[in-house]
Amino acid sequence: MEKQRILTGMRPSGRLHLGHYVGALEMWKRYAQDPTYDCIFLIADYQALGDNAKNVALIRDSVVQVTIDWLAVGLDPQQTPFVVQSYVPEHAELTMLLSMITPQSWLDRNPTVKAESERLSADDRTVGFMSYPMSQVADILLPKATVVPAGEDQAAHVEFTRSVAKRFNRIYGDTFWIPRHELSQTPRLVGTDGKNKMGKSTNNAIFLSDTPQEVAKKVRSMKTDPNRVHADTEGTLEDNVPFTYLDAFDQDLEGLADLKTRYKAGKVRDVEVKDRLTRILNDLLDPIREARARVEQNLDTVHDILQEGSRRERKIAQATMEEVRTAMRIDNYGQMS
Ligand code: TRP
Repeated sequence: MEKQRILTGMRPSGRLHLGHYVGALEMWKRYAQDPTYDCIFLIADYQALGDNAKNVALIRDSVVQVTIDWLAVGLDPQQTPFVVQSYVPEHAELTMLLSMITPQSWLDRNPTVKAESERLSADDRTVGFMSYPMSQVADILLPKATVVPAGEDQAAHVEFTRSVAKRFNRIYGDTFWIPRHELSQTPRLVGTDGKNKMGKSTNNAIFLSDTPQEVAKKVRSMKTDPNRVHADTEGTLEDNVPFTYLDAFDQDLEGLADLKTRYKAGKVRDVEVKDRLTRILNDLLDPIREARARVEQNLDTVHDILQEGSRRERKIAQATMEEVRTAMRIDNYGQMS
C-alpha cells in the first residue's frame, strides 16, 4: 500500500503555546506514529519574514525554539524530517511558478490573510506577506502531500492549494495530488482573556515553556461566570474560560461532568475549578518541560536535525521540480518541438 504523505508546518515567530498543542501538535504526533503516513514538518521561515523582515533576530531565535518545542512534545526527527523552508530553495522556485497561473482574486478573498493584515501597518503589509498563501501552496505541493493536519485558520490556505493544484493539472497535465485539510478535536483554543484566539501577539497565551507558577498565575486571571457574585449561587458554564479549557484538556470525563453539575448547582467555588485546571495543565506540561531542559543541554543537535531533515526533503523537492519544469516545458528551449 502507498503511504499517504503529510506536510504541515509552523511559522517561526515566537514560542509555541497551548493553542498550537491542541490545534496541531497533538494531532501531528498521532500521524507521526502511524506507519501508514509519511510526515514532513516544515519551519516556514520565508513565511515568517513576510511580517517580520525587520526582526530577523526573532525569526532566528524562533527557528531554534520551535525545534526545541517539537522535540519536547515528542516528535522524532529521525522518523519525520524537520525542514527549514529556506534551506530548500525549491520552495521559492515553485512559489514563483505557481504565482503565474493563480488569479490575484483568489488571494484577495483569503479571510486569514485579511484578518492578519488588519493588524499590520501599511508599511508592514508587504507583497510577501499579502501573498504568503502562495508559498504555502508550494510547501504543500512540493512533496506532493495528500493530507495537511493544521488548525482552523489554515483551512482557507488548504482550499486555495486545492484550487491551484487542480488548475496546474488542467493546464499542464496531471502532476500534483489534491490534498485535504485535517482538523484536530480542538482546532481553535480561546486565549486566557476569553476573547481572542490564543496568540503570542494578543498577550493571552500559555506557552509550552511556561513555568508551573506562570501557568497558575495565568489560570488565576481567567474570567469565570461574570454574573456569579457568591460561590454559592448557581453558575453557568458558557463563556466560562476555565471550563472551556477543561473541555479541551481534562481526560477525566466523569470527574469533569461531576464538577460541572456541582458548579451549576452553586456548590463549587471558582478556585476549585482553577486549581483543577492548573493541575491538569501542569501535568501535561511537566514532561514537556523536562524534555525541553534536556534538549537545551544539547543545543548542537538542533543544527544537525534541521540540516539533515532539510536535506531529506530537498531530494523529494528536486524530483518534483524536474517534473514541474518538464510539464511546463520551461526546461529545454533548445529542443524545438
Ligand atoms: N501558515 C502556517 C502558520 O501560520 C505555517 C505554514 C507554512 C504551513 N507552510 C505550511 C502550515 C504548510 C501547513 C502547511 O503557522
